[in-house]
Amino acid sequence: MKNNIHPIFDRLLQRSDREKMLEQRSKVIWLTGLSGSGKSTIAQALERHLYNNGFCAQVLDGDNIRSGINKNLGFSVEDRQENIRRIAEVSKLYLNSGIISINSFISPTREIRAMARDIVGADDFIEIYVNAPLEVCEQRDVKGLYKKARSGEIKGFTGIDSPYEPPLHPQLEIQTDQQTIDQSVESIYQFILQKIVLA
Ligand code: ADX
Repeated sequence: MKNNIHPIFDRLLQRSDREKMLEQRSKVIWLTGLSGSGKSTIAQALERHLYNNGFCAQVLDGDNIRSGINKNLGFSVEDRQENIRRIAEVSKLYLNSGIISINSFISPTREIRAMARDIVGADDFIEIYVNAPLEVCEQRDVKGLYKKARSGEIKGFTGIDSPYEPPLHPQLEIQTDQQTIDQSVESIYQFILQKIVLA
């Protein structure tokens, strides 16, 4: 740097500066629901839909995160808690970068989701319950894991021998056994639009 002058204004960038640049408000869209309820599919389709409408969003997904940053974690109560804690912290980084994050995690208990909300900040945390009855998820069995859980090959599987506590007051509930993926994405998009548009 010329004359040994180190201006500090580049350190003063705020989330709002980056939001302005991206022409959006960042939020954390938190999808909770059973394995097989449709979270990942909806997350990916929503990411694409947001992109097509000029928004910058990034999906964080259970299977991906668990093969990277959280690959040392399993499915005990403590590990699930730590899984969600780290993800919430990562989401906060996205939030401060002005990017919308779409989080697709079972996040099975109210306590775990309350922790995530606390870390992110209630104003920026949008909880969406991706709901499909256990029977439907089990019938879909996209990854063949319910079969393994029923046979005892997998222990502590959510909905089978590990609890899932549905949100009591989700900001939005999507019933994936009653609507198409496009309909689900559209209702989430309509719900979040006001919150992500820069006034
Ligand atoms: S969470 O409970 O910690 O939020 P997360 O969403 O990251 O779970 O991961 C869930 C995914 O891990 C499931 O979709 C499934 O593919 C896989 N999985 C493997 N073992 C289990 C288990 N015991 N319970 C739930 N999901 C499991």
